[in-house]
Amino acid sequence: MSHSDNPAASPVLIPVELLEQSGIVANCRMNRERTLFGTNGYETELGYNPFYVMLSKLRPGLTVGWLDLCCGSGRALIEALNHIQLMQFADRCEVIGVDLAGMFAGDSADLSCLQLVTASVTAWHPTRQFEVISCVHGLHYIGDKLGLISRASSWLTDNGQFMANLSLENIKLNDGRPAKRIVAAELRKQGLVYDATRKRVFCHGRRQIELPFRYLGADDHAGPNYTGQPAVDSYYELLTS
Ligand SMILES: C[S@@+](CC[C@H](N)C(=O)[O-])C[C@H]1O[C@@H](n2cnc3c(N)ncnc32)[C@H](O)[C@@H]1O
Repeated sequence: MSHSDNPAASPVLIPVELLEQSGIVANCRMNRERTLFGTNGYETELGYNPFYVMLSKLRPGLTVGWLDLCCGSGRALIEALNHIQLMQFADRCEVIGVDLAGMFAGDSADLSCLQLVTASVTAWHPTRQFEVISCVHGLHYIGDKLGLISRASSWLTDNGQFMANLSLENIKLNDGRPAKRIVAAELRKQGLVYDATRKRVFCHGRRQIELPFRYLGADDHAGPNYTGQPAVDSYYELLTS
């Protein structure tokens, strides 16, 4: 039963190890197959095309990087890499996709500048900074959503861009206060852009973010969010008001 069925029930908060084994996160019916272009593709869902953003950062002598967190099958990355190879830019781009499920599309073997990594984004660390970091409908399944946003913002280059879908309805404060406005205001205070209408968060340029929230745990019985798919609520304590 989800909390939308019985809002009075207190949620049982689970730690990351249990969350990552939960049927909500390891759900085989979720859409992991988004492509780069077209209806429901990365460009439509983010309002930016991360591939074009990466290309716009190409400079002589520079290897540009695109990191896709919760990349699903990696289809969007493979599509981008096919274009990159046709344009003969493969030695100037590094594209990395990270996903917990490891259900990657089979046709990525000969794309040398693409790495698809099976790992949890909550534990994985990059070894470089990125011109583009995307997370398309991945934060809905992460426990510490704000922690991941902070870490990703610190992995950008000075002129890099982070872009992700984020539903603030899935962030809760343990004292029962509605979190939406408080969290949106704190994100903006740190220089991030939150588009409440389209439920997207952006960071332009590397930032060391310090948000006044302590992560408490996740509720995997939150029920469907605006995507129509069951999502995870993330609980925080507000450290200052
Ligand atoms: C709705 S799918 C989106 C996949 C892809 N971005 C797309 O749009 O096609 C969400 C993805 O998040 C992944 N995921 C959930 N929790 C994760 C975690 N802790 N670390 C890495 N990936 C995770 C799931 O395995 C799933 O592939």
